Amino acid sequence: MDSISRPVTEFCLDLYNKLNRNAEDTNIVFSPMSISVALALVHLGAKNNTAAQIEKVLHVRKAAEQMSLGSDLESAAPEKELERSQGREPSLAQCNKDGDLNHTAFHELLLQLQNLGESYVLTLANNLFMQQGFEVRQQFLMCTKELYGAMLQTVDFHGALEAARIKINAWVESETQGKIKELFAPGVIDINTVLVLVNVIYFKASWEYKFEEQKTVQRDFKLNQNEKKPVQMMYQKGMFKLGYIEEMGAQVLELPYAEKSLSMIILLPGDMADGSTSGLQQIESAMTYENLTLWASSEHMFETRVEVYLPRFKLEGTFNLNEVLQEMGMTDIFTESKADLSAMSFAKSLVLSNVVHKTYVEVNEEGTVAAAGTGAVIVRRSLPLTEVFMADHPFLFFIRHNPTNTILFFGKLCSP
Ligand SMILES: *[C@@H]1O[C@H](CO)[C@@H](O)[C@H](O)[C@H]1NC(C)=O
Ligand SMILES: *[C@@H]1O[C@H](CO)[C@@H](O)[C@H](O)[C@H]1NC(C)=O
Ligand SMILES: *[C@@H]1O[C@H](CO)[C@@H](O)[C@H](O)[C@H]1NC(C)=O
Repeated sequence: MDSISRPVTEFCLDLYNKLNRNAEDTNIVFSPMSISVALALVHLGAKNNTAAQIEKVLHVRKAAEQMSLGSDLESAAPEKELERSQGREPSLAQCNKDGDLNHTAFHELLLQLQNLGESYVLTLANNLFMQQGFEVRQQFLMCTKELYGAMLQTVDFHGALEAARIKINAWVESETQGKIKELFAPGVIDINTVLVLVNVIYFKASWEYKFEEQKTVQRDFKLNQNEKKPVQMMYQKGMFKLGYIEEMGAQVLELPYAEKSLSMIILLPGDMADGSTSGLQQIESAMTYENLTLWASSEHMFETRVEVYLPRFKLEGTFNLNEVLQEMGMTDIFTESKADLSAMSFAKSLVLSNVVHKTYVEVNEEGTVAAAGTGAVIVRRSLPLTEVFMADHPFLFFIRHNPTNTILFFGKLCSP
């Protein structure tokens, strides 16, 4: 499973750096895991250079740099063979085609995430909406469904755009239990659209150690050097894992979710005595894969008594990823003369029109799902030393699946 953790984290940092450009004071949240899965799904339909570029963006391509991309990806023969032998069901093994993307590893991660237990609601939905009239390969439909639980639906962007838009929005709304409405506003998709990848994720979980609601008080959150705003600040004192990034005076706190399957890790810059967001930028510029992994590792943190102040917050992020994915190197799939989606469809002219990602994260005293067996009071030996973790200024956070060390969500909170 480690094979997934690293690529997802690297992709996460690449994407964060892109999304964070010109977004100094803006909240950000996205799910690198979920976008990676969505791109892996598209990879099932891609060949040659188009597939190789996806592998590169997802950081799964091995020793690729000096090799002419594509040359090792052309052996599509077994699949053609298979499709010709009529009546025979293509097998799942066939889905793991040539190339460096290990679909089995992504599939297994998804299976684990589906079994987080009752304290978690994690809805991850991928869907491809294709212009009707394109013939889709059976093998592709089977593989996307079996590996990624994904669907491909046909709509008529050319002839009935508004109906297509409403259909997509309705699907998203139902997949997210009504939390995400109107994914596409009118006018966002146009009649030249042929293929849209929609990727939504909705998450709610209860904390392992809940915040008591009556301890939440209004406090100021410093937006920057000069501005502040009142927020609902949650409070609790307890034993938590805490670490320091000495060089920057930043704190790292781990807040576990139920049964500790997932944790929220918060990277909090030192207080802003010397000015606004510079602390945040210091963390951002040192945030390599190695550093991030180290900062949030259990070796780097120690369990201690901490007074935690954390604002209640709700974040929604919607991104049309076309542009950033192209900047990251996935260009062919968006270009009509270059896109090779021949494992998806027989049609030559198929090209990806839009990649849309939407994330919704809510943080409050308990999460939402009522946990069974409340009332247990955990009494702890009190230690003389209590650390204070005061998240009253902008910070970074991520939500990690602990067994696989995978980053499910990554975000920046500038204004709760
Ligand atoms: C694969 O890509 C290479 C380089 O872009 C190209 O020369 C070759 O013709 C492509 N092969 C197929 C089967 O499309
Ligand atoms: C792909 O991932 C699975 C599950 O993690 C692993 O068992 C398998 O060895 C991997 N395959 C390759 C070719 O790396
Ligand atoms: C890693 O983090 C340390 C601070 O802990 C920093 O001094 C160093 O420059 C960072 N490394 C990179 C490559 O940014």
